[in-house]
Amino acid sequence: MKKIIALGGSNSKNSINKTLAVYVAKQIENTETLTIDLNDFDIPLYGIDIETIDGIPSEAIRLSELFNQADGFVVSLAEHNGSYAAAFKSVFDWLSRINSQVWNNKPMLLMATSTGARGGIGVLQIAKERFPRMGANLIVDFSLPSFYDNFSGNDISNNELKKDLTDKINKFKIEI
Ligand SMILES: Cc1cc2nc3c(=O)[nH]c(=O)nc-3n(C[C@H](O)[C@H](O)[C@H](O)COP(=O)(O)O)c2cc1C
Repeated sequence: MKKIIALGGSNSKNSINKTLAVYVAKQIENTETLTIDLNDFDIPLYGIDIETIDGIPSEAIRLSELFNQADGFVVSLAEHNGSYAAAFKSVFDWLSRINSQVWNNKPMLLMATSTGARGGIGVLQIAKERFPRMGANLIVDFSLPSFYDNFSGNDISNNELKKDLTDKINKFKIEI
């Protein structure tokens, strides 16, 4: 069975982005979801000095190997001050040192959600520009604004947003 990685770009224990990524990945029939929680990987903050002295952390290699096994990615990014959350950025930097094509040319459904009305469009824009240059076959993207107003009972409560996302999930399914 094909494997989809569901990844929240955050280290929050109760990450709304992880919730959204898993919610979407579970809708892709006949695939297995592998949920990645960044807290499950003991990886130090990226720095060239630590890399030179200690090499690549084994936990980063473990995560990179999981990425290699994926047939597609459903990613939802947390936005911190208009950009990637530090925890995600550090892991992403380590992964790029192992394989510059981090996303292995596999299909990606890319999202962001936040507690605010802009729905993480800043970080989404940054990733839309960057990820395809690092191996993402970006199929569709989606931003969910004001998460707690628009998501409840493990579903999107706003019909218009739900329809938009469902159409995008259907486009992604064709590529998997
Ligand atoms: C340091 C920090 C910076 C933040 N910056 C933004 C921001 O630029 N835009 C935004 O919409 N929300 C921002 N937020 C609120 C996040 O959207 C909110 O914490 C959200 O839950 C993060 O996603 P997560 O639950 O997946 O970690 C920020 C939160 C923190 C702690």
